[in-house]
Amino acid sequence: MTESIAAPAAGVAVDNVGGAVVEAHDLSRRYGEGDTAVDALRGVNLEIERRKLTAVMGPSGSGKSTLMHLLAALDLPTSGYVVLAGTKLGDLSDKEITKLRRKHIGFIFQFFNLLPMLTAEENVVLPLSIAGEKPDKE
Ligand SMILES: Nc1ncnc2c1ncn2[C@@H]1O[C@H](COP(=O)(O)OP(=O)(O)OP(=O)(O)O)[C@@H](O)[C@H]1O
Ligand SMILES: [Mg+2]
Repeated sequence: MTESIAAPAAGVAVDNVGGAVVEAHDLSRRYGEGDTAVDALRGVNLEIERRKLTAVMGPSGSGKSTLMHLLAALDLPTSGYVVLAGTKLGDLSDKEITKLRRKHIGFIFQFFNLLPMLTAEENVVLPLSIAGEKPDKE
């Protein structure tokens, strides 16, 4: 897997203690239209368990990045829905999705998308500062 989503660390208070950290329900994503349309995902159902390391594997073009983008609320499905930390994403406004993403998701992109003028530590700390949190020095 070339991208990863970090689940909340053990001990972090979350809204649905005991439930799956993220769920996909009949998730489909079609790119384009008509003859050239590509079905990157067709009817995917899964639950990612809390405190488990989960890997998604498959050949190039099998839809891994597409799935990760949908699970992390970076893209919208063509049909189906995602439940993140007990909240159904389809019911939320852009602003609410942004806040949920900021609170629950850490994303390492396939092409990194880090800020080159910042150090590695500053790249990690930046989203926490924006969320008004004081990062643990550890
Ligand atoms: N923005 C896009 N527009 C059109 N087609 C796309 C787009 N993004 C992905 N696809 C297509 O959707 C399918 C799944 O792509 P995706 O990038 O999710 O695969 P992947 O498993 O992450 O591949 P890789 O291992 O190469 O990273 C592929 O056929 C790809 O060409
Ligand atoms: Mg990919």
